[in-house]
Amino acid sequence: MASQTWLRLSQEAGTLVSNGRFHEAIMIYRKIAKANPRSPDVHNNLAVALRAAGLPEDAVRSYRRAIKLDPNYAIARRNLARALWQLGKSDLALEQYLFLLRKAPEDCETLQEALNTLGSMAFNKPSAIARRLLLRLFNSKNVDYQQLASPAAQLVIYNNELLVGRKGAENLALEKSSLGHLISKIMLDPLFVTILVWTIIPSKQLERWITSVRRCLLSVIVESERLVCPLDNLWAIAIQFQNTEFVQPTSDEELLLMDRFLEKTESPNLVQLAISAMYKPLTEINPNSEFWMKLRTEDHSNPCMRTLIEREIIDRLSENKIKTNIPQLTLIEDDTSRKVKEQYEVNPYPKWFTIDNGGLAETLGNRILKQFPGLETTGLDLERPEILIAGCGTGRHAISTAGRYWNSNVLAIDLSRSSLAFAIRQAQTRNQDNLRFAQADILKLGDRKERFDLIEASGVLHHMEDPLVGWHILQGLLKPNGLMRIGLYSKIARKRWEKWREAIPNNLDRDQTIRFIRGRREKIINTHDGRSEPLLSKIVDFYSMSGCRDLLFHERETQFTLLEIKEVLKQFGLSFLGFANCSEPTSLEFKKQFLDQANPLNLDQWNDFEICQPDTFITMYQFWCQSQPEKLFETQ
Ligand SMILES: C[S@@+](CC[C@H](N)C(=O)[O-])C[C@H]1O[C@@H](n2cnc3c(N)ncnc32)[C@H](O)[C@@H]1O
Repeated sequence: MASQTWLRLSQEAGTLVSNGRFHEAIMIYRKIAKANPRSPDVHNNLAVALRAAGLPEDAVRSYRRAIKLDPNYAIARRNLARALWQLGKSDLALEQYLFLLRKAPEDCETLQEALNTLGSMAFNKPSAIARRLLLRLFNSKNVDYQQLASPAAQLVIYNNELLVGRKGAENLALEKSSLGHLISKIMLDPLFVTILVWTIIPSKQLERWITSVRRCLLSVIVESERLVCPLDNLWAIAIQFQNTEFVQPTSDEELLLMDRFLEKTESPNLVQLAISAMYKPLTEINPNSEFWMKLRTEDHSNPCMRTLIEREIIDRLSENKIKTNIPQLTLIEDDTSRKVKEQYEVNPYPKWFTIDNGGLAETLGNRILKQFPGLETTGLDLERPEILIAGCGTGRHAISTAGRYWNSNVLAIDLSRSSLAFAIRQAQTRNQDNLRFAQADILKLGDRKERFDLIEASGVLHHMEDPLVGWHILQGLLKPNGLMRIGLYSKIARKRWEKWREAIPNNLDRDQTIRFIRGRREKIINTHDGRSEPLLSKIVDFYSMSGCRDLLFHERETQFTLLEIKEVLKQFGLSFLGFANCSEPTSLEFKKQFLDQANPLNLDQWNDFEICQPDTFITMYQFWCQSQPEKLFETQ
């Protein structure tokens, strides 16, 4: 047969796959593969159809054939990794990523997939290959380290029996003499040092370990005992306490000892300073920023100490300067907006250190049409889009969006000046110059004249007095056919820890608020009801003060079901385009539940699915929707 015919048949099979007619597609691909056994593409396409049809073992065989013919065929290798992962052969899957990253260390797609795969893995034994891949990813500039913190923490624990069990943290008090040796031994693990310095570690076990170590170290300095341990190891541990804003259980006795120690010690040495920094912000240990700057300039042998001074002194000073120059677009008069603003002025959210750069910049048109083929885009500027990030917090999301869309012009607003200052500083260090920040209340944006191609509001509307009022105002700022990416809390997911949610009493000062959150959190940690507590401890927000406040002690929170969201979309004339945070395993499960009736745009089906799998949207529903001009007209 002529190659034209094979091409036509291949296109036909591709269309069948898009329409869910996998078995018919497989028959065609098999025929093509038989006639063209040396074409890697054909084997890859056949494998895609096989996997979609629920035949992952057969798919793996076909992917392997494709790779044998072309070992550098990245798409087939990534596909193979997914199929292997689906079959529970995680180490084999991770090997594929390692192979690809050896060839192209900064390939965004491979990095992202490796990250997603590792991020969704749970380890209960050491894995050399996962460790190698993690170390490689931690060397990349384009990866958000926080997403690797959980698998890395698990590997650190399973690699080191000194962290848990008989010889572990619980017995530290008895082994004070060998404390220095214990710390230096454990900190030989580069994974541990990396997560201490660059992430908020979402692990109860590691939290218990560093908290016990801290208690022991405190008694060492209070009793002027000798400690033999590399100094910078202590600073690495101190960084973790500062990253998490001292959310860990801390006894009154420890705090008292710490205060007394600092009162009576006129010029603490570097060991004493490092241990003090495990209990207090640097500015509370010594309010003179010159002192810290001098230390940083003079000492070059303790990189963790220098990092901490840079973050907690230099960066804060530059944020204070930035804060005075942030443009203000609207007044903030609404009662709830004021209270919410206050919360985020004290606890800007989220605290972050590294960012996923979102892959190579592409035009909005390219990205969006790849994701939603056939989307109506009349009226949108797909080449130079105007984008609004409403409620940008500390800017992680805004910076990532500005980097993702080529030639975009992004405006990011928030109530909180502290959050905005953090965001602006981070954007400046990344030279992200298509992004401006301003202080504004969404509720007051209704009169603005500019119109946006895309508006993103993630984790914001559900903190307003009436989220629908805010949502509708944002919708009014869209161009016809404008797009929205919205993130809202799920009632079903959050039900499991509803009993722990509580408002912080009004009359508490800053210190009392910290104690309140710590106390409540400790109670959760110590309660083993087998339901809410293990779940909460999987969520990274549980491990920092600002995260925990956002998660459990918010000024204002509304939750939604998918059926309620469906009603709002209908009422507003918005069409649902799909979830933005639906992982591949979730998609496969969804298809399994509804078989040939499965429709990823059907929110009734998703609601049924979520009832069966209540962890699906544990962080939030993140979805895309589009304003439909004619429908909007009907509802007006
Ligand atoms: C949970 S944080 C989310 C931040 C960011 N969207 C993210 O996902 O990282 C919520 C943010 O919404 C902001 N926010 C809440 N209500 C707002 C309003 N009415 N106008 C503007 N921003 C608001 C808060 O100040 C806070 O920074």
